[in-house]
Amino acid sequence: MPYYTKLGTMPKKRHTEFRRPDGALYSEEVFGTEGFVGPTTTLYHIHPPTQVYGWKKLYSTAPKYVETDVMRMRHLKSAPLKAEGDSITGRKILFGNADCELAICQPAEQMTYHYKNGQGDECLFMHFGSGTVYTMFGTLPFRQKDYIVLPKGTIYRIDFNKLADAPESERPVGWTEASMPFGKFLVIETCNASHIAPPPRYVSKATGQFLEHAPYCERDLRLPELPLTFDELGDFEVRVKALNSMHSYMFHYHPLDVVGWDGCYYPYCFNIDDFSPITGALHMPPPIHQTFEAHNFVVCSFCPRMLDYHPRAIKVPYNHSNLDSDEVLYYVEGNFGSRRGIEVGSFTCHPQGIPHGPHPGTIEASMAHDRTFELAVMVDTFRPLFPTEHALGMDDADYPASWQGEHFPGASKTAKAAQLNGASRFPVSPAGNAELLEMRSNGQVSGSPAGNGHSDAEAKKATNVW
Ligand SMILES: [Fe+2]
Repeated sequence: MPYYTKLGTMPKKRHTEFRRPDGALYSEEVFGTEGFVGPTTTLYHIHPPTQVYGWKKLYSTAPKYVETDVMRMRHLKSAPLKAEGDSITGRKILFGNADCELAICQPAEQMTYHYKNGQGDECLFMHFGSGTVYTMFGTLPFRQKDYIVLPKGTIYRIDFNKLADAPESERPVGWTEASMPFGKFLVIETCNASHIAPPPRYVSKATGQFLEHAPYCERDLRLPELPLTFDELGDFEVRVKALNSMHSYMFHYHPLDVVGWDGCYYPYCFNIDDFSPITGALHMPPPIHQTFEAHNFVVCSFCPRMLDYHPRAIKVPYNHSNLDSDEVLYYVEGNFGSRRGIEVGSFTCHPQGIPHGPHPGTIEASMAHDRTFELAVMVDTFRPLFPTEHALGMDDADYPASWQGEHFPGASKTAKAAQLNGASRFPVSPAGNAELLEMRSNGQVSGSPAGNGHSDAEAKKATNVW
């Protein structure tokens, strides 16, 4: 994080004598990034953080990519996922490249050890579930729809509440305890040594303070809190991910033994419902949804918001070719009626160079709406993403063809539309435009089923905006 904070106790001046109640010195640790010229935090441990033993490699964490020479639209359905492993071993990487990895995790059991990602930052999006992340920087209570940003090197353990104890509204439709005992979360992880942070354009260059045009600010972030210190002796395992391998290290003492820290490098939570969407008279481009970024990728939040308010605005996005990016969307909640087959827990991947846009019937259907209620998380990468076997196991093979069909229901018969490659086009003359407006006003166009497989009810709820 860009701004300074502190928790616990520490000496008045850094790098000076600071003693435990028994007279021994606390162990100072400078937790620095970018060769000690980036964000840094200074921690004070009860025990020297170097006192470890028993290091060994457990297993490889390297993703196995497939179809690395195939570019196509992809749709994955993660809703049928079964609970497996814990919050670390249960992670299934779906997409990745040399910059980032995207995984889904639906743990079957609690963690019995602490964990440290020694090769990248993590941003967890907690789709379902609540609980506590115990970290060396303090305690982070989390709830549904939190982003939990855990910078590289943070030692932590996730302790979920049982989903059975959550209100029914916080559980997926058709939920069973066996399929999802604790929750489900998305993992966005850097693997290019960069750090996940708020977009630089939203913070002051001089002070790191969030600026007035930012869609969130310091008050929306939830920082580590007490309890901070666990003073226990024993044998404590810390699993360390590094060099694409999981290692096991043993500590003689509880690894969360910090009594105080200060600096600009620490984990935090941010709930997606606290993102204040930026809206406009005409369609606003995806960067307005940006929430975090790291080198070569961004994380965006598509939140419920007012739709474009120009009287003749087209409220779903134009067809677009995001030529330098692969776009992965994870659908969190809302109604995805305008994207055929999309459901809560779906992923779509639209790779660079393939234009995409509204599904058939959705442009006209969006005209009558002034708000969207869908919620989704997007990761845009600047280098191609590759799928894994896990991704192929969830693949909806029909998705790439889902844009085929009648895009402007009713128009071909009544507005003398020109047929172009299976789609239809409205006349561009003023007369044709007037005809279209009249059709809209008498309901002939918006929401009218026209043999394209969309019912009127489906069209009315079609307000997806990505
Ligand atoms: Fe897109």
